[in-house]
This record gives sequence, C-alpha cells and structure tokens, in this order.
Amino acid sequence: MNEIPVTVVVGAASGIGKAVCAELLKREDTVVVGLDRAWAGEQRTDQFIPLTADATNKESIDGAFAEIDSLSLGPLKSLVYAAGVQRQIASEDLSLEDLVAMLTLHVGGALLCCQAVSSRMRLGGSIVLFSSIAEFFGFPARAAYAIAKAGVSALSRSLSVEWASRNIRVNSIAPGYVDTPLLKAAMDRGDLSFNPLELNVMKRLASAAEIARPVCFLLSDDASYITGETLVVDGGYRVFKAW
Ligand code: NAI
Repeated sequence: MNEIPVTVVVGAASGIGKAVCAELLKREDTVVVGLDRAWAGEQRTDQFIPLTADATNKESIDGAFAEIDSLSLGPLKSLVYAAGVQRQIASEDLSLEDLVAMLTLHVGGALLCCQAVSSRMRLGGSIVLFSSIAEFFGFPARAAYAIAKAGVSALSRSLSVEWASRNIRVNSIAPGYVDTPLLKAAMDRGDLSFNPLELNVMKRLASAAEIARPVCFLLSDDASYITGETLVVDGGYRVFKAW
C-alpha cells in the first residue's frame, strides 16, 4: 500500500498554482496531482501528475477524481484551489451570466473540489482556497470578482465549521498583486486604472513563490490550530490603503 500523501492543486498549469506545485515538491515527500483546463505539454513524473479538468463542470471534476482513485496513490491529504480568471466589467454592463460565470468558477468550482476531497480525506487534511484583497475593497468594474472572492472566504469559513470534526482544516489566502499571467493580462488590457506598485508598502509585486510558501504553511502541521481563516498576503497593501 502506497503511503506517500497526495496533494491536489487545481489551476496548476500557471501562476500561483504552478508555484504551489513546485514549492510542495521541493519541501515535502508528497505526490502532487495538478488539475487544469489548459496544459502546455506538462510531463508526468513519479511525483507530479498533470490531469486535464474543467473546474466549472461537475462531470469533469468527478472524472478527474475517479482517475486519481484509479491510480492507487497514497492518502489524499491536501487540496489547493487556485483556478481563477479576472475580468473587469462596469457594473452597469454586468450581466447575470457574467456574474454567474465568475461565481461558478471561483466559488462553485471550489465547492465541487472540496466535496470531492472531503470524502477521500480518510485521515483528515487541509484545504486552501483563493480569495483576494478584492474581497475587502471597492475596486471599479470588479463587482463580480469581489463578490466571488468574498464568497470564497465565506465558503472556507462554513466548511471549516462543518468538517472540523473530521479533522479537515479549511482556510483561504487573500493575495495582493502577484506577478502571474493573470495580472499581466489585466495590465496588458489596460484594466488596472492605477499602478499597483504605488499601493503597497513594499513597492513591488509579489512573486508567485511568495504566495505559494504561505499556502504550504497553511497546508502543513505548523498550521494545525488555524482553520476558518483568511490569510492576507499583500505586501502591506491593506495597511497602506488604511492610511
Ligand atoms: P493564472 O491565470 O496564472 O492561473 C490560473 C489557472 O487557472 C490557469 O492555469 C487556468 O488555466 C486555470 N483555470 C482557469 N479556469 C479554469 C477552469 N474552469 N478549470 C480548470 N482550470 C482553470 O492566475 P493566478 O494569478 O495564478 O491566480 C490564481 C488565483 O489567485 C486566482 O483565484 C486569482 O483570482 C487569485 N489571485 C490572483 C492575484 C494576482 O495578482 N495574480 C491577486 C489575488 C488573487
């Protein structure tokens, strides 16, 4: 029987999710299964298994977890849900479909994956979901994203209460501005109406690794008494905005 613990990372092909996979493989004896809807020729190894799945589609997620079951890996210990997109839409133009699509990916997909792992975490485990500082501020043209991210934190708090008796901890991370393809695309589209570098104390973007390391902390036993929390990792954005 294989006893090496398994971590599932959703949104693993890019940005923060990809950095989480790299950081986990560097520091832990674990097998990482990466789920994403779009891989660019990622190779499978003994420790890293990339699978294609659409987080907004229950059949696709169920299929991916059935495939994980069929691999006879060790016990499932951790889940990181980092799949996401960011779009700017002025609220007067925001359609119900736009809002539902944002909620489906960020909250619905997170719920589907949490449901899939909860029944498989036989020895307990730890889950990290992705919020954003957008949860705390009113940014122009970002109502759908902000609502979805507030929903992510609400989801992690709710699950932390329901699943504590099964020894499953559930937390969220709320990053500030992180140097990833998601942010680069927003900047290229001219979607940021301000310079994010002027809005945090450190005057720089986070690297994806600087978000991945706190994720690893929350997953680890070092965080054994932390659940239902949203950990803000923003280079001092919030304290600076509060001045
Ligand atoms: P990214 O665009 O680099 O990576 C996101 C990944 O999610 C991509 O590989 C993409 O293919 C995948 N994905 C998107 N829709 C999917 C779906 N339906 N099914 C499966 N996979 C899907 O983005 P980044 O920056 O790494 O973002 C990760 C998370 O962090 C997101 O939830 C984002 O909202 C959040 N975040 C990012 C910040 C930033 O400045 N980059 C700031 C605050 C939060």
